Amino acid sequence: MVRRFDMPQIVIRQQPTELIAEFFARITYSQVVVLADENTAQFCYPLIQAAIPEHQRITIKAGEEQKTLETCQQVWEQLTNLKLDRHSLIIILGGGVLGDMGGFCAATYKRGIDFVLMPTTLLAQADASVGGKLGIDFMGYKNHIGVFCEPQATLISPAFLKTLPERELRSGFAEVIKHCIISDKVTWDTLRKKNVADQDWETLLAHSVDFKRGVVATDPKEKGLRKILNFGHTIGHAVESYYLQSGNRIFHGEAIAIGMVAEAAIATSKNLLKNSERDEITAYLKITYPHITIPANRKIIFDFMLQDKKNKGNKILMALPEGIGKARWDVEVTREEINSALDFYQSVYT
Ligand SMILES: NC(=O)c1ccc[n+]([C@@H]2O[C@H](COP(=O)([O-])OP(=O)(O)OC[C@H]3O[C@@H](n4cnc5c(N)ncnc54)[C@H](O)[C@@H]3O)[C@@H](O)[C@H]2O)c1
Ligand SMILES: [Zn+2]
Repeated sequence: MVRRFDMPQIVIRQQPTELIAEFFARITYSQVVVLADENTAQFCYPLIQAAIPEHQRITIKAGEEQKTLETCQQVWEQLTNLKLDRHSLIIILGGGVLGDMGGFCAATYKRGIDFVLMPTTLLAQADASVGGKLGIDFMGYKNHIGVFCEPQATLISPAFLKTLPERELRSGFAEVIKHCIISDKVTWDTLRKKNVADQDWETLLAHSVDFKRGVVATDPKEKGLRKILNFGHTIGHAVESYYLQSGNRIFHGEAIAIGMVAEAAIATSKNLLKNSERDEITAYLKITYPHITIPANRKIIFDFMLQDKKNKGNKILMALPEGIGKARWDVEVTREEINSALDFYQSVYT
């Protein structure tokens, strides 16, 4: 049976069929169900179908709007109709939405059955599938209901990325960039010499996964070190929320790219990062991500920032790079500093 809080095995292979074969070589289940969304059912499932022992498939609609209790209910109903017992396995084949929501369904069905994550977006491979956070959106709040629970294994294949829409790939790439800036100057120097289309995903994913895994193992409940993963996210989330509310959604990674430019500028103003390092980060993000307008009324952005779960009282706290390859967290930042940083972001693109 699963030891729910152990770090799972995370395996990366170019061939997804190898991942499946290796997993089933050491364990058997009474029943196996593959949970997919309409896109992963079409593009990813055919790559693994033949390698999975006898199984059923459940397919749900795609998109963040599906990350709800209603969809969980549909999944639980189908699992019940399929008479899945506690010795069954669910293979979750999809991006972060399916990983968070499907994992939550598996972790709660009959008090928890085994599940395997097979992330199919870059965001899910490099970020969402590591760390055991599962859940759904509720009453308009993201990830409002959920649990910490680890899968039996996480099986990652860059082969799935070939069918991923380009904008999704670029969005997930922001998390890979973030991992390099806060943890590893050498990998950053390799990454920034190539554009998104030419990256060596197998190597970069191994890097991202190792790094995030190490951070999560040291600080599973985000009391300290894990907060460094929020670099780019304080400002990024605020801009993302603003666009979401205005009905003009931008992608998560696009928002985080804005956040990384602005927060690198704040790190420079606090003498944590040299001007040349800030410019290096900014130059790469500028060629990789489109310019996005920051609203002239900055109060809207501050109001979103003040709602950040990571703040203490009315203080805005950020994770900032300390040179390239290192970061510190809980750095207090003033409105004036944020204002200048947003001006800096705007000036970079003019
Ligand atoms: N648990 C965590 O630690 C964590 C961390 C970061 C983000 N998240 C969550 O992840 C979610 C976002 O994940 P996402 O960006 O992967 O979105 P997603 O799961 O919605 O996938 C994006 C789109 O790509 C499609 N798709 C997926 N794989 C494909 C493939 N290989 N080929 C073609 N199409 C494919 C999907 O059907 C969907 O339409 C958010 O809900 C966020 O809260 C969780
Ligand atoms: Zn993120």
